[in-house]
Amino acid sequence: MKLRPPVTFATARLHGRPPRADDGPAVFAAYAADPEVTRYLSWRAYERVEPLNAFLSECVSHWEKGSGHLAWLLCLKGTDSPVGSIGVTLEGDGRAMFGYVLGKKFWGHGFAAEALTHLVDWALARPEIFRAWAFCDVENPASVRVMEKAGMQREGVLRRWHACPTLGPGLRDCVVCAKVR
Ligand SMILES: CC(C)(COP(=O)(O)OP(=O)(O)OC[C@H]1O[C@@H](n2cnc3c(N)ncnc32)[C@H](O)[C@@H]1OP(=O)(O)O)[C@@H](O)C(=O)NCCC(=O)NCCS
Repeated sequence: MKLRPPVTFATARLHGRPPRADDGPAVFAAYAADPEVTRYLSWRAYERVEPLNAFLSECVSHWEKGSGHLAWLLCLKGTDSPVGSIGVTLEGDGRAMFGYVLGKKFWGHGFAAEALTHLVDWALARPEIFRAWAFCDVENPASVRVMEKAGMQREGVLRRWHACPTLGPGLRDCVVCAKVR
C-alpha cells in the first residue's frame, strides 16, 4: 500500500491542513505575494491571486492522488487562516524531502521548527523512511537553523543546485541537512 502522510496534524501551537481551492486570497495575503518571503524560494512572489488559485488546485489534486509534493497550510490553533505552509515529497527509496515557508509577521516564533520537527518525527517513525532531509540557500541561515532545530544535521553544500528567481537568473549554492535512522 502506498505510504501517505497524515492529512491533518497538530502541534502545540499549530495545525496543518491540506490547501483548498478557495484558499487563494488568504494565502496571497499571508505570504505568497511578498518578495521578501520568496527571496530564497524556487518561485517568485505572486502578483495576482488567479495563478495562485491554479497552484492550490494542483495541491488539492496531489492530495487526491497521494503523490508529488504534499503541502499543508499552517494555521494557528483555533483559527483556519494560513500563516504559512510546509510540504513533503516522498521520494521513494526511503527518502522524505521537506520545504516550508511562513508569512513575515510570523517569523521568529519557532513555528517553522515546530511544524518541521513534528513531520520529521512522523516520517522517521515510518518503517519505509530512513532519511528526512531539506535544503536551503547558503544565504538563508534562519532556514539552516530550522532544520537543525528539527534534529537534522548539516551534511554539506550543493554547489549551483537551485534557482531563486526573485534574486535573478542562475543557479545558487545550497546547504543540505538531514536526519537519518
Ligand atoms: C526560514 C523561515 C521558515 C524560518 O521560520 P521561523 O519560524 O522564523 O524559524 P524559527 O523561529 O523556528 O527559527 C529561526 C532560527 O533561526 C535563527 N536565525 C534567524 N535569522 C538568522 C540569521 N540571520 N543568522 C543566523 N540565525 C538566524 C533564529 O535565531 C532561530 O534560531 P533559535 O531559535 O536558535 O534562536 C522563515 O524565515 C521563512 O518563512 N522565510 C521565508 C521562506 C524561506 O526562506 N523558507 C525556507 C526555504 S528552504
